[in-house]
Amino acid sequence: MTENGKRSFMSKKSQKRTRAVDHVQEPEPPARRDLRPRGRSRRSFLRKLWVGLGILAGAEFVGVVFAFLRPRKPPVRKTDFGGVIEAGPIDDFEPDSVTAFIRGQFYLSRLKDGGFLALSRKCTHLGCTVPWDSEGNIFLCPCHSSAFDRTGEVISPPAPRALDLHPVDIENGIVRVDTGKKIKRKSFKISQVVRP
Ligand code: FES
Repeated sequence: MTENGKRSFMSKKSQKRTRAVDHVQEPEPPARRDLRPRGRSRRSFLRKLWVGLGILAGAEFVGVVFAFLRPRKPPVRKTDFGGVIEAGPIDDFEPDSVTAFIRGQFYLSRLKDGGFLALSRKCTHLGCTVPWDSEGNIFLCPCHSSAFDRTGEVISPPAPRALDLHPVDIENGIVRVDTGKKIKRKSFKISQVVRP
């Protein structure tokens, strides 16, 4: 090989090496290399954030729909059947009187001696509502003509037993009736009367 050829060979080799070196030594701009992973992680973070917010909003929506559709028990008012009803001060009820509490579904009967009975208005035969007949001084069932006196005792069948009672409580001169409880009885007894 001529010196020229050697030189040209050397120069080709050197060129290759230079290219290899050039290839290896060609670094990416540091700014771009740093930005790419951060951009990816930011996008991934935002995607996760949106997914999380979506799940949260969905759960909240389901909760609101469930709460809206759930059957709610109306609160028992002081005058409604099912709770303790404040009937009123003792002196509001004359002895030998019967007072109807329509919403409470009972009669407050004050006997001649001043004692109280809270009578259920349901007939003990088949459950019809029994009205008070103030002229005849009896409860007369419109369904099969059972009759009861002011203590709830049966005067005339087919009712098999006296009207049910609700517990009466008298405190500080106020009469309260617990319509959430019922006392079944065969007949009237003086021990059932509640006195002030
Ligand atoms: S339901 Fe009252 S007498 Fe039959």
